[in-house]
Amino acid sequence: MARLSLYRKWRPQGFESVVGQDHVIKTLQNAIETNRIAHAYLFAGPRGTGKTSTARLLAKALNCEKGPTSTPCDQCESCVAIREGRSLDVFEIDGASNRGIDEIRQLRETVRFRAAQGKYKIYIIDEIHMLTIEAFNALLKTLEEPPENVVFVFATTEPQKVPATILSRCQRFTFHRISTDIIAEKLVEISREEGVEVDDTALRIVAETAQGGMRDALSLLDQAMAFSSGTVTAELVQEMLGLTDAQALTAFFEALAKGDLQGGLELVRHASSSGKDLIHFMESAMQVARSLLVVSADRSAPLQSGEILLGKDRKSFVKVAEAFDNAYLVGIIETLAEAVQKSKQTADTELFFDLALVKLIEEKNKSDELNNLRTLVVEQKKKLSALEKQIGEGKIQVAQNYDVVPYWNSTLEKLKSKKDTLEFYAFLVVAEPVALEGPDLYINFPEAYEFHRANVEKNRDLIEKKLSELSGFTVKLHIDKAPGEQTGPNLLAKTQDVFGGTIVKPE
Ligand SMILES: Nc1ncnc2c1ncn2[C@@H]1O[C@H](COP(=O)(O)OP(=O)(O)OP(=O)(O)O)[C@@H](O)[C@H]1O
Ligand SMILES: [Mg+2]
Ligand SMILES: [Zn+2]
Repeated sequence: MARLSLYRKWRPQGFESVVGQDHVIKTLQNAIETNRIAHAYLFAGPRGTGKTSTARLLAKALNCEKGPTSTPCDQCESCVAIREGRSLDVFEIDGASNRGIDEIRQLRETVRFRAAQGKYKIYIIDEIHMLTIEAFNALLKTLEEPPENVVFVFATTEPQKVPATILSRCQRFTFHRISTDIIAEKLVEISREEGVEVDDTALRIVAETAQGGMRDALSLLDQAMAFSSGTVTAELVQEMLGLTDAQALTAFFEALAKGDLQGGLELVRHASSSGKDLIHFMESAMQVARSLLVVSADRSAPLQSGEILLGKDRKSFVKVAEAFDNAYLVGIIETLAEAVQKSKQTADTELFFDLALVKLIEEKNKSDELNNLRTLVVEQKKKLSALEKQIGEGKIQVAQNYDVVPYWNSTLEKLKSKKDTLEFYAFLVVAEPVALEGPDLYINFPEAYEFHRANVEKNRDLIEKKLSELSGFTVKLHIDKAPGEQTGPNLLAKTQDVFGGTIVKPE
């Protein structure tokens, strides 16, 4: 006889063996104890989380010779018959292969007959969402006038596809994905019972890979046990799962961090040509991204699947996390999820993986560029305000208007070369030219030259006239005044144009 698979062998035979669904089990047991049994239940939830098992347990509980009881004996004829799948009162119908109206009509015929042996007739319809509209309508009629002592249990992985008319007539229970910890615990128990030694890390990988499904976890453990001749090790499990090895995944995240498109594409090519399952690769990368998010939010979070996949300890995993911001990690998950979905639809996985990579790396480079620019602006602003402060404190002399100096020098030369202006030259030569803006010439006299300044003030009109003649345009003289509104050197004004902010004038 073929060996019974682990998940069959370990189907929960009592409510206490169903793990991770306490909210469902407690409510059901309570209803049985208080004799408030509904006519129809909807068990919704992911694959392999205990829906069918719980439906069978409910059947046992109702029909146990000692029942209805919340703790069926698992010994009596009824319990044993249900366990062995030969009870005449329990009907398991696969909604996926009996989708039509004929099957449901047939069901409605039999529903009217009394239970053969037990107290209740229990109809378990799996994958109820697969029924046709006509079948649903036929079923609805039965639900509207439920026969005595008939209990329907509808199970579905996609409750949103079940018509509201049906939903509203069912008591609904939602089965959850089972946590890695709980799965791992169960795996420890089962491998101990089976007398097989399994490394903790190996169990952890299996539990993580199962993604909340106990059946998947048990199938994987089964395979791993068949695969090994002694202890089940982490390496063996990884090899068996064709898990994208830690190196390839690490390289993938490095390529993303560096924005290295070519490296990334080569990686995909290599993975593909060495026979790796690219969908699995992308799913693993998504898990890593998810773990990176968790760890960057909480460095002391429990061991994450991503760490196992990358084969990294917490410290180096955190380092990887630091290369990405959260928004980007979310982007990785979303982009890869889309690529996985499209790959499954079209079977052109490599193409969609490539496209996802191009998108991700473009995004990374863009956000890096933006970040660099932001840093630059922040730095410049800091420099600018430091500069402004120094100018304000008079520690830095504002550079002179760049065209004023040659103009001033040549003007002085001209003044000096003529007798009638030589005197003006003598007064003006100690002045500092500040700016020449159109007709406006700004000059300052250092404190020590008050006499010179006074003389220039006194002869201002004449000097202006002479300067205008020499220059070929009207000159207006401003003494010891800052140039008009746009004060200071052009450099400052330009910087302000670029970065905004206020320019503080020196006193
Ligand atoms: N909550 C659980 N506690 C213990 N074992 C479980 C649980 N869920 C699933 N299993 C294991 O997985 C096997 C399959 O579970 P079951 O058939 O109840 O899942 P299901 O939710 O009906 O899945 P599907 O949607 O694929 O029909 C069980 O025989 C059992 O070994
Ligand atoms: Mg099922
Ligand atoms: Zn019993």
